[in-house]
Amino acid sequence: MHTSIGGRVVVLGVTGSIAAYKAATLARLLVKGGAQVRVVLTPAAARFVSAHTFAPLVGRRIYTEMFEEPPPAVPAHLEVPHGADIVVVAPASADFIGRMSAGLGDDLLAAVCLAATCPLMIAPAMHHQMWANAMVQRNVARLVSCGVTVIGPEQGELAGRDEGRGRMSEPEEIVDAIGALLERVVV
Ligand SMILES: Cc1cc2nc3c(=O)[nH]c(=O)nc-3n(C[C@H](O)[C@H](O)[C@H](O)COP(=O)(O)O)c2cc1C
Repeated sequence: MHTSIGGRVVVLGVTGSIAAYKAATLARLLVKGGAQVRVVLTPAAARFVSAHTFAPLVGRRIYTEMFEEPPPAVPAHLEVPHGADIVVVAPASADFIGRMSAGLGDDLLAAVCLAATCPLMIAPAMHHQMWANAMVQRNVARLVSCGVTVIGPEQGELAGRDEGRGRMSEPEEIVDAIGALLERVVV
């Protein structure tokens, strides 16, 4: 376990993938490592995992809405990345990677990524045929060229009976990658 996550503020974005359940373990590991974790769920992610799963794990409210009622003085897309050390999107869907690579901010998590001034990391998760798709690869390459760190995906068993490269990296590996990246970042 990296000591460099202790006391750090980690924004954990979760998108609509079967691997979303692994994000709960990731959140737990980050909290155990001493990080303050702010979780943002996309609407699709909230169909796989609930804010009720994450809130007790991170001991904080969970962000799901761009337009909150009543309107807060500081909108969530600015409050969430404020003072953050890193934004990690795990799992990152093909759809989200496409939106991010286009610089769109049409949902809360995408807008948080645009507003963040700290390092961004994504852990893609998708069917291997999606990952191999030239359009997805172009979008990932674009993100890399913008300085985004990509961890995985790994080769292995996917949902259903398929096997191939598309499996999200394990939460422990993602924590290690976050720690390694934060060690290199001067605070
Ligand atoms: C059962 C199910 C599993 C899915 N798993 C994935 C996945 O692992 N990766 C992916 O890129 N999309 C997956 N999708 C499609 C996404 O949920 C869909 O593209 C959605 O628009 C993603 O939205 P978001 O990126 O805003 O979270 C899945 C859809 C369903 C119904």
